Formats: sequence, C-alpha cells, structure tokens
Amino acid sequence: MRDRVSDAQWSQLSEFIARTTGLHFPRERSADLQRGVAGAARELGFEDTAACVDRLLSVPPTAAEIGILASHLTVGETYFFREKKTFDVLSADILPELIRSRRGRGQRLRFWSAACCTGEEPYSLAILLHQALPDLEEWHVTIAATDINGRFLRRAAAGTYGEWSFRDMPAWFKERYFNRTMDGRYTILPEIRRLVTFVQLNLVEDVYPSLATETNAMDVILCRNALMYFTPSQVRNVIRNLHHALAEDGWLVVSPSEASHALFPQFTTVNFPGVILYRKSGAKLRMKQPWLPAPLDDAADMVAPAIDPSSPWAPRIPVAPPMEPAPARPVEEPARPETPPSPCAVAETLYQEGRYAEAADILLASIDRHAHEPAAFSLLARALANQGELTDALAWCDRWIAADKLDPAAHYLHAVVFVERGDIERARSSLQRALYLQPDFVLAHFTLGNLARRRGKSEDADKHFANALDLLRRYQPGDQVPEADGLTAGRLTETITAVTGMETVP
Ligand SMILES: C[S@@+](CC[C@H](N)C(=O)[O-])C[C@H]1O[C@@H](n2cnc3c(N)ncnc32)[C@H](O)[C@@H]1O
Repeated sequence: MRDRVSDAQWSQLSEFIARTTGLHFPRERSADLQRGVAGAARELGFEDTAACVDRLLSVPPTAAEIGILASHLTVGETYFFREKKTFDVLSADILPELIRSRRGRGQRLRFWSAACCTGEEPYSLAILLHQALPDLEEWHVTIAATDINGRFLRRAAAGTYGEWSFRDMPAWFKERYFNRTMDGRYTILPEIRRLVTFVQLNLVEDVYPSLATETNAMDVILCRNALMYFTPSQVRNVIRNLHHALAEDGWLVVSPSEASHALFPQFTTVNFPGVILYRKSGAKLRMKQPWLPAPLDDAADMVAPAIDPSSPWAPRIPVAPPMEPAPARPVEEPARPETPPSPCAVAETLYQEGRYAEAADILLASIDRHAHEPAAFSLLARALANQGELTDALAWCDRWIAADKLDPAAHYLHAVVFVERGDIERARSSLQRALYLQPDFVLAHFTLGNLARRRGKSEDADKHFANALDLLRRYQPGDQVPEADGLTAGRLTETITAVTGMETVP
C-alpha cells in the first residue's frame, strides 16, 4: 500500500481535473472528488487511489483515461425528452422556422448534442426531426452526439434502454419508436438510430469548431446539464467555442438552471414560455463594413479606421509584443506611418477568433486586391464552409484550385465541402486527387476511412485508417496535424483507434 494522498496533492488534482475536464471540485466537494477518483483508480487498474493520483499528476493521461476519470466524477443522468418544454419549443418554433428557410435551398440541417451521455437527448431530437420531416430522405440531416465518456457513448450507440429512460413519456412512445428486446428493454428503431453519429469529444480540451471533425456551422447545439458542473472560467471558454461552432442565427440550448444573463453576452436571449434560448445573431448585428479598407488608390486613408477601437465591433487586430525601448531618433527624422495590416491578415485574425462571417466579409470586399493570392481564396473558402455557406465555399475552392492546381489542401477542402453537401462520390475523387499530390496527407486518409465506414465498406475503411495511423507515427503526440484546425496527432490517433479498435505500434 502507498502513503495516503496529501492535501496538497488533492488540491493539485482538483486543478488538474478542472483543466482537463472542466469539472469543478472546490474544497466543499472534496468527498465527491475522493470517491470519484477511488472509483476511477479501480477501473484504471491501480492498486490504490494514491498510485492513481501520482500517475495522473506525473504523466499526461490519454483521452480514454480522462474519459474514465470524468465518468466517475459526473452523474450520467438523462432521459428521453428531458425538460420537455424545451423540446416543445424546438418542435413548435425552432424546427418549423429552420425547415421553412432551408426547404428547396440545400435542404441541410445540422444539430449537435454536446455532452449527450447515453444518447437519450440526441435520439429525442432525431425523433422530433422524423416527425417534422415527412420527406426526411430528401434532406441532408446531421445530428452529431458527443461526450467525454466513451462508455456512455458505447451504450448510446447500442441504443437499448430500460423503463427509467422513459420516465416522462407515455407508453405509446416506446411502441412507436423502439423494438422490444428479449429481456424487456427497448432498442431504438434503425431509421432513427442512423440519423445520429456518436463521437468522443471533450468540450474543454478538444478543438472545435473544426471542418475535419464536422463540428462547424451548427443550426442548433444542445449543451444541457454539463456546464453546471464546470468551473466558471471553463464555462466561459466552452460557451465561446460553442458560439463559434454555430452558423449565423444558430441556437444554443442549455438547461433552465444553466440560463444566465451574465454568461451568454455574445448571444441574443430569446424568451419562450418557460424556456430561454440563446441565439447567435452576428448576421443581423454585424456592422456594415464602415472600417473596411478603402480601394487601393485611397490606401492612405486606411491608416485611421473611423471606428472607436474600444467598440465591440472593432476588429481585434493582433498587437505587436512589447519591444525594447528604441534608441532616441534624431529630431528631424519624421515618424514613419504604421503600415496597416492587410485585409487578408485582419481576416486571418478574425478567422482564428471564430468570427468567420466577418472574416468572409472583409475578404469579399477586398478580393480584387487578392486576385492572384491562393491564400486569400483558401481563407475565404474555409470561412464560408465554417458558416455552412457551402455553395459559395465550393465556388471559392474552385478559384483556389484554378489559382494553384497542385495544392493538396485545396482538394481536401473541396472534399470536406462535398461531404457536408452529401456528395460522397465527388468527395472521394477530391480526396484521391489530394492523395495523388501528397500521398502522406493524413487527414485525407482519415476522411476516406470515415466515408468508407459510412458506406459499410469496413475493409476499405480499415485500410485508410491504417494508413492514417502509420503516418501519424511520424508526429509527436502534441504536434498539430496539417489542415486539421488545431487537432493534434495524439488526439487523432486516439480517435481512430477508438473507432476501429486498432492498436498503434509504439
Ligand atoms: C448529466 S449528463 C447530461 C446529459 C444530457 N445532456 C441531458 O441534459 O440530459 C452530463 C454529461 O456531461 C458529460 N461531460 C462531463 N464533462 C464533459 C466534458 N468535459 N466534455 C464533454 N462531456 C462532458 C458527462 O460525461 C455526462 O454524460
């Protein structure tokens, strides 16, 4: 037996848990923390809690280990149509408006149940969509469902539930949407099951929005009964990233007990009877380009944009780091005017901040100046794709490819946009082209693997995933994978091994 865990170690561990999972264990919850870590230690195979704490504090844990730790520290409590009034508002107000605005225009809808637990929430959403869209087959509907806890996700993917999950539902509901199992439980119907894609994602650590993981341009995000367990600073980080992951005018749904004036300043609060929702409303509020650079001839005027820099609408332009004090200049030398950042540089900064629509506006207003710069086309295509403006994104991808046919990244983005449009054949040929130009393009192999998997071609999928894992071994775990919006090699390796059950050779 090891020595017991010291107070200092518990406090270090609580900080570590806040950093890696978001979960908040102040001193008054130390009994919960100790109970949870003891459970995690057993499941992770440690001889005692102290050994587990030592290891967590000394070696960075894998995503799977963090998932196990989180599973012992959170309540896996959920049920179908939980907080029913919220689903009533979705069904009566949000979905009809969305469907009306998309019918005949791409017919594409994107939902994300972030912190989906064992799946009751995303399946409730899938059932609503099934009811709202009699012509569902004609639509391209995405319901992404993610959670930090792999065990919950495996139960969610199996889709089999006991009576307790239906505590708020009438009896006919089970009969209509489930098949009875031999042991008296209920399995969700395959046509509902196939609408939902489950993926492990840590809201605090993982990178989103990301075109690579399809966590972008969401119309509705449900993130309910998870934020309430997070530290205040992690809540703010997560809300900021979820805001970025929404399309313009998209909706964020939290639970009634998580609604707060102070926490959602970047959203418009919309009140429905008994329910408060948050709406991203950048499209309506964005200022109409008063600070956009003037045409080239008037470039001198660009130095002082006519906008108060403290205004929330002012673009946040990177500030140069403080410099050594400059040697005194001779008095007669006139100070040189500062060169304003190029529209492309401003757009890149806005893009990094998740302000995709503003980045796209700037680039579109100055695109003539960048007529020969593939980098501007690339940024514009990505900003538009991140907003779900797929037709425009595709058009700018085409221009990017016309300007630089040999750039594999252009063909990859082309493929990602085709995937989002549901045009799988074209996506495949763009990915093949990317790989022809760059055979070690990890993400192209990964995306081909995902496409093969969706088509039920598991042998092909395994081949592509094996190629991706092979290539990932050339990277350090913390290295960012090219074109992956910040996704690291370690995280992508874990994602692939979780999906395929493949082992990596160290
Ligand atoms: C109480 S359940 C909420 C389930 C469902 N959203 C609902 O409202 O019924 C909380 C979920 O948050 C998940 N969770 C906790 N920390 C997380 C994190 N950092 N990233 C993603 N999911 C997390 C837990 O695994 C758990 O499944």
